[in-house]
Amino acid sequence: MTDKKIRILPKGPYEVSGNIPIRQEIMINNEEGTPIKREKGKEYPSWETSYLCRCGHTNNIPFCDGTHGKIGFEGTEYAEKKQYEEAAKRYLGEEVDMLDQQNLCAIARFCHLGKDTRNSVIHHENEKDTQNAMQSASNCPAGRLTILQKEGKSIEPILEPEIWLIEDRGKNYKGPLRIQGGIPIESSDGEGYPIRNRVTLCRCGTSQNMPFCDGKHLKCAHMEGIST
Ligand code: FES
Repeated sequence: MTDKKIRILPKGPYEVSGNIPIRQEIMINNEEGTPIKREKGKEYPSWETSYLCRCGHTNNIPFCDGTHGKIGFEGTEYAEKKQYEEAAKRYLGEEVDMLDQQNLCAIARFCHLGKDTRNSVIHHENEKDTQNAMQSASNCPAGRLTILQKEGKSIEPILEPEIWLIEDRGKNYKGPLRIQGGIPIESSDGEGYPIRNRVTLCRCGTSQNMPFCDGKHLKCAHMEGIST
C-alpha cells in the first residue's frame, strides 16, 4: 500500500498515489451568486496510482490523456515553499485572530457570505461575528484564510484525505482541484510543499502561483462550462 501523496511531474500531470478518493464537487450559489454550499457530484475511480490533468486540456477529465505533450505545456511552478504561518498576514481580533495568505485565493467566494470575514475578526461586535469568521474561513477551499485562537492554535475542520474537482455553477466554470486532509504535495524538483489541511491545485494550467490555484481558470475559455 503506497502512502498518500501527490507528485507534480515536470511539464505534466499530478501523479496521485495511495487510492485517494476523487470526486466532483458542485458549488451551489444563492441568488446573488455567492456560494452557500457544496454538493457531491460524480465519483471517479481511484487507483493505487493515477494521473490527474494539470494542463486543463485533457479529453478525459479529470485524468491525463497525454495532451500536455502535444500543446507544449510547461507547467512551471512559481509558488514559494514557505510555511503558511510565515507567508500569511495576521489580523488581530478581540476574540480570535485571522491569517490570510492572499496569493492562495482561488476566487471560490465562500468568504463573501454574511459579514466579511476580516471585518468579523477585527470589528468584532458579538459572538455571531466570531462564528461567522470561523465558518467562512473554514469554508475557504484554498486554505487562504484560517482562524487562530488567541493562544495561537488554529481552528481547522477535520477533513479526510480526499481530492475534489470544483465545479463553479455560479460562474459556469470548471475550478481547481480541492485537496484536503493533509496530503503531501511534492514539487517537480523533489522538494515538498508545506503540508496543509486545505489547498487548491491548479487544473487549468495557467496559474501564476502554480501549482496552487490563483483563480485564472475564470479567464480560460477551455475551462468554461461545468461537467456534471
Ligand atoms: S496534464 Fe496531461 S493532458 Fe493535461
